[in-house]
Amino acid sequence: MSERTLGIAVIGLGGAVGTTMVAGIELLKLGKVDKTGLPLSELDQNSAKDLAAYERIVFGGWDLNAENLAAAAEEHEVLNHKQFVAVENSLSKIYPWKAAVDERFLSNIEGGNFLPSKDHREVIKNIVNDLKKFQEICDQVVVINLASTEKLVDESSEEYSSLAAFENALDAGSENISPAMLYAYAAISTEIPYGNFTPSVAADIPALIEFAEMQNVPIAGKDGKTGQTFIKTVLAPALKARELKIEGWYSTNLLGNRDGLALSNEDSLRSKIKTKASVLRNILGYEVEDHIVDIRYYRPRGDDKEAWDNIDITGFLGQKMQIKVNFLCKDSILAAPLAIEIARCLDLAKQRGDSGIQEQLSVFFKLPMTKYESPEHAFHIQNKHFLKWLNA
Ligand SMILES: NC(=O)c1ccc[n+]([C@@H]2O[C@H](COP(=O)([O-])OP(=O)(O)OC[C@H]3O[C@@H](n4cnc5c(N)ncnc54)[C@H](O)[C@@H]3O)[C@@H](O)[C@H]2O)c1
Repeated sequence: MSERTLGIAVIGLGGAVGTTMVAGIELLKLGKVDKTGLPLSELDQNSAKDLAAYERIVFGGWDLNAENLAAAAEEHEVLNHKQFVAVENSLSKIYPWKAAVDERFLSNIEGGNFLPSKDHREVIKNIVNDLKKFQEICDQVVVINLASTEKLVDESSEEYSSLAAFENALDAGSENISPAMLYAYAAISTEIPYGNFTPSVAADIPALIEFAEMQNVPIAGKDGKTGQTFIKTVLAPALKARELKIEGWYSTNLLGNRDGLALSNEDSLRSKIKTKASVLRNILGYEVEDHIVDIRYYRPRGDDKEAWDNIDITGFLGQKMQIKVNFLCKDSILAAPLAIEIARCLDLAKQRGDSGIQEQLSVFFKLPMTKYESPEHAFHIQNKHFLKWLNA
């Protein structure tokens, strides 16, 4: 693997997934954990040669919450006691940078760690300054969005339709421009690859896709495919291959972490349900009218998410059957390694001179960004495309 230093600048660094990424890499550096759960850790030497070594990754990033990462990780309770003790000292030295914030897009998460900014251009300037400072200690920087889910916006807005329209909206202080878009714009303007692990609308608007192509910057998103949707996009193609008709698919999630709290707000929830609900039609080729996706904030579970799926199917002779899946997962333990791999792949894409939407990274996302065609959702097909790119 490459000996270059890869800097991951995380938006939402103090969150459950952000702190788990940082702690995980630190534990690897200390030799306290192995690489189980990191999807690209077992590649042969040749495929992996240009990917940044896990041990060469360093972190920086923004959070609304000013506390250091040890204090944040302690609150999230994702690490076990031994793991926390091993990384507490190094995490306590990392403080998030001041965030870009707008309460119109995120209502029920609090924190005072943000710079008062009089306009969008000033916010962008602050983000760019942070990135430039970080670049001084890294060979390559990648930005990954792991912030709380913002409210759903009207993606067809004229202001998002082209770079020129977006720039005008920036100058006019438009209320339709979210922090997620400002971070994405700042990264692209600095020629830094950008990955969106959240359902928030960001680099997926036409204006920023155009900007990424113009700047030769690779971008990818959106919404990490970690638990329930991952399993759904594995099972659905198999049922399709056997011509078992899916009559209904009821998916419920219980989660009690801060992501769950953010999603208990109706506006943020709509963003998440949109990305989760879109996968079946593409895989099956028909609409499952009774595809229901439900997410509940349920505090006792903390980060130990529970996902239930009930699938009603019809087989030969019109006979009805049911499949029940109960995935007792750990939200951040599934998410953190994917976010790390997305960053390493975006760095690889940049080295290869790939720019714009990196469709081959669809394998990591619930709602993959595509330029012309509707996205491929079937996991086995996504993985085939991804490995072909990796080995190219
Ligand atoms: N855990 C998973 O399996 C998974 C899967 C897919 C997507 N995601 C998405 O990843 C994101 C992070 O999840 P999490 O569990 O770490 O949530 P979290 O609530 O623990 O962390 C989010 C962090 O973002 C910070 N934040 C909010 N707005 C910000 C802003 N404008 N700038 C900088 N920081 C900001 C918050 O203070 C918080 O610390 C969520 O959007 C979630 O939907 C998670």
